[in-house]
Order: sequence, then structure tokens, then C-alpha cells
Amino acid sequence: MTLLVAIRGWTPDAWIERFRRLAPDLAVLDAREPYDPAEVTHAAVWKPEPGLLASLPNLRAIFNLGAGVDALFADPNLPEVPIARIVDPNLTARMTEWVVMNVLMHHRQVAARADDQRRAHWGSRPQPAAQDVSVGMMGLGVLGRDAAEVLARLGFRMTGWSRTPREIDGVECFAGDFGLGPFLERTDILVVLLPLTPDTRGILGRDLFARWRRENHMGGPVLINAGRGGLQVEADILEALEAGTLAAASLDVFETEPLPATSPLWSHPKVIITPHCAADSDAEALARVIIDGVRRESAGEGLAPEVLVDRQAGY
Ligand code: NDP
Ligand code: OXD
Repeated sequence: MTLLVAIRGWTPDAWIERFRRLAPDLAVLDAREPYDPAEVTHAAVWKPEPGLLASLPNLRAIFNLGAGVDALFADPNLPEVPIARIVDPNLTARMTEWVVMNVLMHHRQVAARADDQRRAHWGSRPQPAAQDVSVGMMGLGVLGRDAAEVLARLGFRMTGWSRTPREIDGVECFAGDFGLGPFLERTDILVVLLPLTPDTRGILGRDLFARWRRENHMGGPVLINAGRGGLQVEADILEALEAGTLAAASLDVFETEPLPATSPLWSHPKVIITPHCAADSDAEALARVIIDGVRRESAGEGLAPEVLVDRQAGY
């Protein structure tokens, strides 16, 4: 068993140290140093150099160091071996925290209250109960489902949208192109936890905003996106905020990351920005998940169904 660690965008040192410490029986190679490609049986990767994985003749499985695998599918020479993505309760819980925090910030009008405070204004604002506010969850996978269930427990009217039909207690579920219209009609706050695929790229744009019109105490529809930046058309978001088609947005992901300092999103009074950290997770826990996966695959048990990426669907 030899694990190649190939990471772009962050330094791999901590990951290599972790894998070596947590699995001393595993040979761990650093893709930045010379190595024999024929030795590599497994690869732990984040945005690897296109073509790198295809150069490994004995590769048995790829372990993506995140939940979203869009960067892998950007490699036209991605080898036909099973791909595992991260599914981990620690990551899921952190994403749910971020989603709940943002839904509550908009629902409880935190920006307007802060503005009142700056002006020493003892303001009164209409504040409906959660049960009178609809939150629509785009993406009902591991992350969307957990966040939807927690929001339903807080009392929000929950709807959800997925590619294939789903059933979740307390969530009115819609699926596919046909379900998108009725889903949007019911939504005050749209939370997006979709993967980036050819079908979802650019979905959060002018056409969708035009189909989604609701009056509410927040001044109109609110967009919360922690899926991927490629889902959103930032020029359309800015235009919709100006036009009032959108009342506010919380964005954790961007078309270009890091978000350029020149982006008008940074200083927009109706936009809350976090730097792709919604589900920043315990790296030790993630390393253990990957090591368990490598052991399981090496023992001939294959990858656990919940982590196995569907190559056809692209996520
Ligand atoms: P899953 O694969 O478990 O779920 C994806 C969901 O999206 C499923 O419900 C799926 O439908 C739905 N979906 C996919 N394509 C479409 C489509 N064309 N139309 C409608 N619904 C669609 O993913 P996770 O929940 O684990 O993660 C979701 C995404 O969150 C990741 O892909 C990643 O991009 C992002 N992410 C962001 C992080 C951050 O820090 N900002 C951290 C971790 C993940 P179906 O149920 O029918 O399969
Ligand atoms: C992920 C991410 O996909 O952090 O896990 O974005």
C-alpha cells in the first residue's frame, strides 16, 4: 500500500505528517519529490495537476481531500478507478453550523439591527416566527439533508430540491427541472449545497432569480451559497441585489478564489462573505477517514457506498 499525497492550493506538509503518524504501516509519498509512479496504489488529492493521476499505472483508488470532486473531473485524463470523497460527521456538523448561522442572521435581520445600534436607534421591526418563513435547500445530499433537518427542528418551513426524488421527514421535497419552479415559488431563503457539475454550473443566475419572487420581512429573497462558486453568476447576483430581486446574500464560495480584492462583493452592504471556510473541519478526523478507506480498499472490500463518487452523475 503506497499513498501518494498530491495537493495544490494548500501546503501538503501537515497532511503528509498526519498520514505518516496515523498510519505508520502505510508508505506515504510526497508528489513534490521524486518517486516511482509504479509504486503508487492510492492517491490522496486536492486539485491535483491534470494528468498526474493518469501517470500512475498501478493506481487502485483516488481519495479526494474534500466533499466536492469538481476539480477532479476537470482533468480530461482522469483514470477510470474508483473515487472516494469526504463524508465525515465533523465536516457535516460544521457546514450545518454555517448554514444555520446564516439563515438566522437573515431571518433575525442582524445587519439591520447592527445598523440600528450604530445609530443608537431603539428600532422595532416586524419579526415573523420561523414557522412563517420558508427555507429551500438546493441539494439534499449528505450536507443539505443534515442542515435541512436541523432547520426544520428550529421550526422553519423546509423545502428541498434534488436531482432524483428524495423523502425527508419535515421537508417538502421536489426534484429535477420539473420540480424547480414549485420549489422556488415556496422559497424565502435559498440555501445552496449543490455540487458543481455541467448541469449545475451557473444555475444561480438571472433566470433563476427571475423565477423566484417573494415578499417577506427580509425585503425579498435571500441567497446563501456554500456549494461552489461556479454555481453562481456573480454579475447577476450584483445586478439582482441592485434591482431588489435579491434582498441579500451570504456567499462562502466564488467564481474565482481567493475572491479578488477588486470584487464589488467585498464591500456590498447586502452581502456576507466568508472565505470558503463554511465546513473547515478537523484535519485529523479527515485523515483517519482516508486511512480507513485505503485500508478497506486494500483489503478488497471496495469503497464505502456513501463515499463512492458516481462518475456518470459527476458528484
Ligand atoms: P452530495 O453528493 O451528498 O449531495 C449532492 C446533492 O445535490 C444531492 O441531493 C443531489 O441530488 C443534488 N444534485 C446534484 N446535481 C443536481 C442537479 N443537477 N439538480 C438538482 N440536484 C442536484 O454532496 P454533499 O452534500 O456532500 O456536498 C455538496 C457540495 O457542497 C459539494 O459537492 C461541495 O461542492 C460543497 N462543499 C462545500 C464546502 C465548503 O466549505 N464551502 C465543504 C464541503 C462541500 P440527488 O440526491 O438526487 O443525488
Ligand atoms: C469540500 C470543500 O469540497 O471544502 O470539501 O469545499
